[in-house]
Amino acid sequence: MPERIITDVLTQADPALEVTLRPALFSDFTGQAKIKERLEIAVEAAKRRKDPLDHILLCGPPGLGKTTLANILAKAMGAGMKATSGPTIEKAGDLAGLLTNLEEGDVLFIDEIHRLQKTIEEYLYPAMEDFKLDIIIDQGPNARSVRLNLPRFTLIGATTRSGLLTSPLLTRFPVRERLDYYNADQLQSIVTRAAGLLNVEIHEQGALEIARRSRGTPRIANNLLRRVRDYAQVRGDGRITLDIADRALAMLEIDQNGLDEMDKRLLETIVVKFGGGPVGVNSLAVAVGEEPDTLEEVNEPYLIMEGYINRTPQGRVATDRAYQKLGLTRGRGGGQPELI
Ligand SMILES: Nc1ncnc2c1ncn2[C@@H]1O[C@H](COP(=O)(O)OP(=O)(O)OP(=O)(O)O)[C@@H](O)[C@H]1O
Ligand SMILES: [Mg+2]
Repeated sequence: MPERIITDVLTQADPALEVTLRPALFSDFTGQAKIKERLEIAVEAAKRRKDPLDHILLCGPPGLGKTTLANILAKAMGAGMKATSGPTIEKAGDLAGLLTNLEEGDVLFIDEIHRLQKTIEEYLYPAMEDFKLDIIIDQGPNARSVRLNLPRFTLIGATTRSGLLTSPLLTRFPVRERLDYYNADQLQSIVTRAAGLLNVEIHEQGALEIARRSRGTPRIANNLLRRVRDYAQVRGDGRITLDIADRALAMLEIDQNGLDEMDKRLLETIVVKFGGGPVGVNSLAVAVGEEPDTLEEVNEPYLIMEGYINRTPQGRVATDRAYQKLGLTRGRGGGQPELI
């Protein structure tokens, strides 16, 4: 097994920073226009009917705004929100505790919902459908099932791996949205807004440079902004110009296209080890030491969107752009790649 790549610090969430920069209203949430419109309508309609919001599942790669949207939705509904995550709900009692503490219309946010235990999931079904919870109290001969009535609540689930959700759970979410990577223009406005909140002076071109190299991901853009700000303070006059941004990103070894280590390892593996492909996702996963589902749902979508790889029925294939990125040309007759 190859050594596991230690996730680049720039892709990690910094809780304090995320709270500061997290937009609280739909109007501050950039991009994802269609999803935003559908969710805003759902909120408005539920409010007019005086109903709780329908249960919503938010999917998509890390750092694209799932938690942010859950917060915005609760706030827009004027509802309270309790947040938890799949792996922290260990017993049915934990879930019962969470659900019975909700008030009418509240949002229960379950992050990483694909990591919920199956037994817990089954308790969730009647809770989602009928706002009822059947719990077993006592043990042995005295064990009996008690039905609790729950307040009408909204479950918002978030997952990076929708493929791992069971279909009974999936089908209990009337609203399912998949977040997509952001384009450079959208990330530029996210960076500019964040710079404003952090009191950093930034030029348009400097913001665009950070945006271009953020792998389509607001979290990475915000993290890069902070690193570039440090560089600007120490090596410049504090302002983020194009030149400062470019020098700072080069120092951080952020690729011109913002690809991270795992992206590069994936491309290299397809090209060098598998002769450019096609290679099946399972073989690829073993070769890079990652789960096939993670590759498919977290790493690959960006590489496909940017045109580095194609998914074919036979497997993944590296494109010319992937060869260019690695500084290689296709070997003649489909042989080993050659250095340019
Ligand atoms: N559309 C957006 N506009 C502005 N900022 C955004 C947007 N989406 C995300 N962000 C910023 O990126 C950060 C990360 O977003 P968020 O925590 O919502 O991602 P996530 O999808 O929940 O990621 P994970 O899967 O890792 O939990 C937020 O703190 C916020 O500052
Ligand atoms: Mg999140």
